[in-house]
Amino acid sequence: MPATLVTGASSGIGWELAKEFAQGGDDVVVVARSEDKLEDLASQIEREHRVKATVITSDLAKPDAVDHLCRQLQERGLHIDNLVNNAGFGALGRFAELSADRQTEMLMVNVVALTRLTRQLLPAMIERRRGGVLNVGSIAAYQAGPNMSVYYASKAYVLSFTEGLREELQSSGLHVTCLEPGPTETGFGDDSGMGRLKSFSSQAMTAAVVAKAGYDGYRNNEDVVIPGWKNRLIVTSTAFVPRVVTRKLVAKLQGA
Ligand SMILES: NC(=O)c1ccc[n+]([C@@H]2O[C@H](COP(=O)([O-])OP(=O)(O)OC[C@H]3O[C@@H](n4cnc5c(N)ncnc54)[C@H](OP(=O)(O)O)[C@@H]3O)[C@@H](O)[C@H]2O)c1
Repeated sequence: MPATLVTGASSGIGWELAKEFAQGGDDVVVVARSEDKLEDLASQIEREHRVKATVITSDLAKPDAVDHLCRQLQERGLHIDNLVNNAGFGALGRFAELSADRQTEMLMVNVVALTRLTRQLLPAMIERRRGGVLNVGSIAAYQAGPNMSVYYASKAYVLSFTEGLREELQSSGLHVTCLEPGPTETGFGDDSGMGRLKSFSSQAMTAAVVAKAGYDGYRNNEDVVIPGWKNRLIVTSTAFVPRVVTRKLVAKLQGA
C-alpha cells in the first residue's frame, strides 16, 4: 500500500485531504496537535476505507518537531510516499502589534516545518521514484498582505519553494503540486480573525471541495491548483495590476 502523511489533518482542508488519499487506496499517517480529533479521523477512515490510519501528535512550531516525527516514522517502519504539507495558520493584525511569539510560530509551522519535513522524506521518494509532495499554500501567495504580512509572506514562500522543487524533480517521476485555496470554511477563519471580514466569509468554499481539487490536481501532477473560478480570476488579475495597487486593495479589504 502506498502511504500518505498529512500534516494539519485534525480539521479543515487537511482532514478532507486525508480522507481523499484514503479513498484513493493509500494508508495514511495523520499529524497535528489535537490527538482526540486525529483518533476520530483515523477510526472514520479505517471504518470507511480498507486502509491503515496512523496517528502521530506533533507540535510543528517546536524546533525539533520534524526530526522527532521522522524518528517515530522510522521506529514504526512507516515509509511515506506522498507528503501533504497542509498544517498552517494565520493571524490578522498589524505586524508590530501581533505577538512576536505567535508570528514566529507561524513561520515555524507554515515555512520551517514544511521545508524540513520535505527535506527529510524526499530522498527516499527519489530513490523509489514514487510519490511526491503536495504543499498547501494560499491565493495570499500572489500579493503582499497588509494587516497579515507574515502570513502572506509565508504563503509566497510555499509557492516559490514548490515551484523550484518541481523543476528540480522534473525527471524524477515524482509529483510536486501547490494547492492554493482562497477563503475556505474551516477553523482558519475564527483562528486568524479573517472570518469576521465580509470579503472572506461571503466567498468561502467548503473544505471538501477544496481538498478534492487539490487531490485530483496532485494525482494529475498539476503544478498549481487554485480551486474556484473566482479565486482563479483574482490570481490571474494580479498579473496585470501593479503590486502597489494590489497591496493597497488588500490593505483596504483587511482594514489595515
Ligand atoms: N481556510 C482558508 O480560508 C484557507 C485559505 C488559504 C489557505 N489555507 C491553508 O490551508 C491549510 C489548512 O488550514 P485550514 O483552513 O484547514 O484551517 P484549520 O481547520 O484551522 O486547520 C489547520 C490545521 O493545522 C494544524 N496546526 C496548526 N498549528 C499547528 C502546529 N503548531 N503543529 C501541528 N499542526 C498544527 C491544526 O491542528 P491542531 O490545532 O490540532 O494542531 C489543523 O489541523 C493552512 O496551511 C492554511 O494556511 C486556508
